[in-house]
Amino acid sequence: MGTAQPAFIIRPLPGANFGGVIEIAAGIDAPERTEAAIAAAEAAPDALLSSFYDAHGFLLLKGMHAISEQPDLLVRLSRLFGPEVEDYRQTLTGASDIHPEVPEILVVSNIPPATKNVPARPNPPLNPDGSLPVQFPHRRGWHTDQSYRRPPPDISLFYAELPCPKGQGQTLYADGIAAYDALDGAMKSRIAGLDGLHVRLKTGRSEYAVRAGEPARALEAHERAQRQPVVRTHPVTGLKALYLCEAGQMDWVDGPLVGMEPGVDGDGAKLLYELMTHYTRPEFTYAHDWDAGDLVIYDNRSMIHAATWYDGEHERRRMWRTTVHGNPGPLYDGEARSWVRA
Ligand SMILES: [Fe+2]
Repeated sequence: MGTAQPAFIIRPLPGANFGGVIEIAAGIDAPERTEAAIAAAEAAPDALLSSFYDAHGFLLLKGMHAISEQPDLLVRLSRLFGPEVEDYRQTLTGASDIHPEVPEILVVSNIPPATKNVPARPNPPLNPDGSLPVQFPHRRGWHTDQSYRRPPPDISLFYAELPCPKGQGQTLYADGIAAYDALDGAMKSRIAGLDGLHVRLKTGRSEYAVRAGEPARALEAHERAQRQPVVRTHPVTGLKALYLCEAGQMDWVDGPLVGMEPGVDGDGAKLLYELMTHYTRPEFTYAHDWDAGDLVIYDNRSMIHAATWYDGEHERRRMWRTTVHGNPGPLYDGEARSWVRA
């Protein structure tokens, strides 16, 4: 039996110290290229996954345009990354943000009926050298998807069906493995065993809400804040990574860090600011400027991301996301799903 030529190769991600770009073997023309790439991935899933983990959980596939016409292809590829692809009808997601034909796709868009708001612009909008601000707290919005759930999700796939012009609506990514590695021993000891308190948006518990004096509302069981380790051990690679969000997705009433002084000016807040400022240092980050047909696959267990501003008055943006669940690690063994309404 001959050895099949791999139909894809992985190259380093330009402009980043992590990540990989999947290059589909030459000779396959669009529009067949997308399905050929997925078939190649299905034929060698272990190679794909080991490339993904070698790249600290970030892969970029260019030219996957056929997904726009055949959205099931995105679900098919997602299935290679874990046991369960989220059906957003089961997870309290607003119907207007779910793809009308494929309920495993979340529509992230400013085009009605989708409800996504345009992210705020940093102040000032650019660094003095003209570059895009990435570092917290100048840059806000860093998070890992759905960390307010236990067990939290594993991996997201994010597809640019209708991106903004270059220079707007980028997505920033930060590598929590490299950021954890670069901490000094004293900080590693300090945060070992520490938990963060993560909560969903619109609960009156974000840093902004607390600073604005909004009352925190009573939460139903399925939306209560969830503890997550600040240092997460990856269930596949065994590597440690920082696992944190900042202003919007932590609980700034009872947290943000469990067992530390709570509130927006407490010791927990000070440590979170220090950790997030470190996590988002430029050498751990990458800014992706989207082309139509781009697909990014990112590991929520070891990475954070943030959306950037775009001119939502004049630009229309539509992105599709799937979320893969099922391998959060032994810490979560046997847990009921926190987000299911009783
Ligand atoms: Fe996200």
